[in-house]
Amino acid sequence: MQERQAFANWITAMPKAELHVHIDGTLTASRLLDRAAKHGVDLPYGSVEDVTKAYDFDNLQSFLDLYYLGTGVIRDEEDFYLLMLDYLTTCREQHITHTEIMVEPQSYLPKGVSLATMMSGFKQAVDEAQAGWGQSVLLILSLLRHLPEEDGIDVLELAHSSFPGSFVAIGLASSEVGHPPVGFTELYARARSLGYRTTAHAGEEGPASFVADSLDLLGVERIDHGIRSAEDPALVVRLAREQIPLTVCPLSNVKLKVFERLEDHNLLEALDAGVKVTVNSDDPTYFGGFLNENFIALHEHLLLDGKRAARLTRNAFEASFLPAKAKADKLAELDRYLTDHPSP
Ligand code: ADE
Ligand code: ZN
Repeated sequence: MQERQAFANWITAMPKAELHVHIDGTLTASRLLDRAAKHGVDLPYGSVEDVTKAYDFDNLQSFLDLYYLGTGVIRDEEDFYLLMLDYLTTCREQHITHTEIMVEPQSYLPKGVSLATMMSGFKQAVDEAQAGWGQSVLLILSLLRHLPEEDGIDVLELAHSSFPGSFVAIGLASSEVGHPPVGFTELYARARSLGYRTTAHAGEEGPASFVADSLDLLGVERIDHGIRSAEDPALVVRLAREQIPLTVCPLSNVKLKVFERLEDHNLLEALDAGVKVTVNSDDPTYFGGFLNENFIALHEHLLLDGKRAARLTRNAFEASFLPAKAKADKLAELDRYLTDHPSP
């Protein structure tokens, strides 16, 4: 068997965790079209080919414009159910045994879609996947940084009072430049006081100082992306020393032109410097691949070997927000896989 195929088979069958995926970024082109037809929404695309041609982005903002357009066709409980079930079905196919999914109510509430509608659809899909194939799922309440902090606090209070226990953590996403961490200190203080775990996008398009500020001002436990930390060598040393996980999204970074080519990506240097790097898909249907495709692309373009791939997967389970016992079980399952299937 070709070496490339052997690696692809090995990484595909490995039990893996995904820590950075936006549910709205898993909307497939065909689901976008079928929901638009259902609701009579006029889209500037007539076919799956037309939609995928639009996946050609100059930067984060040009992607976000299309991403928020996609949320316009997801309106009722069945839509949210199918959106979640499509992604969880892919998790099953890709052996993503644990996933932590970002849910963004602020994309829906202003259009008159209630949190109850969203959560009811999502819950049905999550329950089905848990009962059907033992899928492990945690939800992250992801707040949008282009909106005022008070809006984020209102959504946190709403989620906390109406759906206690449904979200394990809060996150911060959307346009990074112009919306620094310093604007969200009260939101994070409130979330921490309510017992939520914390993560935030930082150092994707924004500077390394946004990573440090997310740690120091927001008190986050994990950083989403964080690849621009490399611009501050002392920060990289700190990330390694404090074992702060980075949820890195390689195909996303190339699609959004953070790196011109995957060959230029710095995640293996960070991994080798001792940083707790993980691999994730971010918005897989928009960026050309789910988790396995990210790993396979790293193998092909960055010469990712089996030893590092196993390290990245172990990091993801370790950096998850799972309770200790569930985490230990997932790590033991990974160890059994690696013993039975040494890397090719
Ligand atoms: N929302 C969805 N994907 C995102 C990304 N890559 N960066 C910031 N916000 C996002
Ligand atoms: Zn993201």
